[in-house]
Amino acid sequence: MHRTDYEALDAGTVAAALGRLADTFSLTFLAECDSTNSRLAAHAGPVDERIPVLGADVQTAGRGRRGRVWQSWPGASLTFSLAWRFAPGSPAPAGLSLVAGLAVARALQGLGVEGVQLKWPNDVLIHGRKLAGILIELSSGGGGGVLAVIGIGINRHLPADAKVDSSLGVIDLAECLASPPGPNALLAAVLVELHHLLSVYADAGFEVLKGAWEQLNAFADLPVRILGEAEDITGDCVGVDQDGALLLRTETGLQRILSGDVSLRVA
Ligand code: BTN
Repeated sequence: MHRTDYEALDAGTVAAALGRLADTFSLTFLAECDSTNSRLAAHAGPVDERIPVLGADVQTAGRGRRGRVWQSWPGASLTFSLAWRFAPGSPAPAGLSLVAGLAVARALQGLGVEGVQLKWPNDVLIHGRKLAGILIELSSGGGGGVLAVIGIGINRHLPADAKVDSSLGVIDLAECLASPPGPNALLAAVLVELHHLLSVYADAGFEVLKGAWEQLNAFADLPVRILGEAEDITGDCVGVDQDGALLLRTETGLQRILSGDVSLRVA
């Protein structure tokens, strides 16, 4: 049974919640689209100086990492994408997915959510269960720059059967807070943090955010297994380096895991 009584995304409501930052973003909201990442990647041209944000109440072909599907039900999750342009000559934004995760984590903490953790490279967990996922897609931004489309899905109120279909375990905001924020307030809170942390990152790199990320690392000092394309790697999770690579202490020494295309499990 589809819900019809949910709060829809609304540009005026988000702009009011953003206050002085309202003019920083170009907000577009659709009742339905295939994938906000796909749409924004196709239409993120530099119309003006504002940061393009595209949200949808429902996605019909939402995409997750590693070819997975990000499922969508009316009113169940906040799904949106933001396009960020890195200036020509900027280094490849290797730590970007960690920065986006940190922004979501901080927004949730600001809303009173407890037990917020980060799973490298960019899942947001609450006491070990997945609340939010992030899909970052890079393309040429023209003139030598890089265009990053940062897609974020945050579980707000999932149907009961959606929670059993995950190896990691999923959670939604309705389980975390007595009065969860509506999607507009939640989006505004995340945009404020994204704007701040992306600006810091673009100016100073991931190094200055590394300590903050590590404080929320769900696997800090734990034995973990990286499920890679070729072979698995087991070691103790030491943290991340200045580029956002995961550091593992293995039997053969310290190893840097660079690829975002790995799965991380407690060994
Ligand atoms: C993951 O956990 O694998 C990443 C999930 C990312 C989902 C978001 S929802 C908004 C944006 N549009 C998409 O198609 N995917 C991302």
